[in-house]
Amino acid sequence: MNDLQTGTYGAISRANHWIVSLAFFGMLAVGFILSNDVLTREEAGPLRDLHKATGTVLLFVVAWRVIWRLRQGFPAPVPGLAAWQVTASRLVHWGLLVALIVMPLSGMLMSLLGGRSIDMFGLFAIPPLAEIEGAGKLARAVHGYAAWALAALITLHVAAALKHLVVDKDGTVARMVTGKAPR
Ligand code: HEM
Ligand code: HEM
Repeated sequence: MNDLQTGTYGAISRANHWIVSLAFFGMLAVGFILSNDVLTREEAGPLRDLHKATGTVLLFVVAWRVIWRLRQGFPAPVPGLAAWQVTASRLVHWGLLVALIVMPLSGMLMSLLGGRSIDMFGLFAIPPLAEIEGAGKLARAVHGYAAWALAALITLHVAAALKHLVVDKDGTVARMVTGKAPR
């Protein structure tokens, strides 16, 4: 049975959610550190390489996570939720899923269309596809704006989760933590 049929999130869905969440918190933090000139040039280089290689691996992880969600469907909202909350959560969840794909993809295109390679942890390098100044710049802008959009969506998402946990006490958070289906 899939998530739609069980009315909760199965073990694979929960693992996907928490592993990708943790990875993206780290990627956002490192990205903002890199773009804000907090570090010296020598310090930033290796961290940028790590950001790029990890982000490239994450594209595959996220592709799997999104395909899994599409195949599983979303469990129906817990009973008693207002219509606007159902709509808002659908919008935020879809926005998050889109941003999860856009971030690594735009990051890779920024490098690969900007004439730069991606060094995969020193094991091998993904060579640049082309050096098209406009395309590299566009991907850079998309990466920057999508990062802020993602951070805003995550803030809304975590605030809503906290409200469900502390105020509503309606089992929404439990089904993503323990997998217990709400009554
Ligand atoms: C997987 C998810 C990723 C997340 C969440 C992420 C996040 C970020 C963020 C928040 C920034 C700062 C943006 C700004 O303020 O303008 C950034 C910058 C950057 N990202 Fe990513 N990124 C990801 C993947 C990638 C990938 C796959 C690459 C390249 C292969 C990449 C390359 C870069 C580069 C080169 C910068 C600019 C750093 C600088 O200003 O020196 N990112 N990233
Ligand atoms: C402390 C942080 C977080 C908490 C407490 C949390 C909590 C939850 C809960 C309770 C649900 C189920 C909502 C429902 O059934 O209606 C959920 C779903 C979801 N969350 Fe989070 N979340 C967190 C971080 C994140 C992050 C960082 C992302 C994205 C980068 C994310 C993306 C999603 C998505 C896309 C869904 C829809 C179901 C799925 O495909 O997993 N969450 N979250």
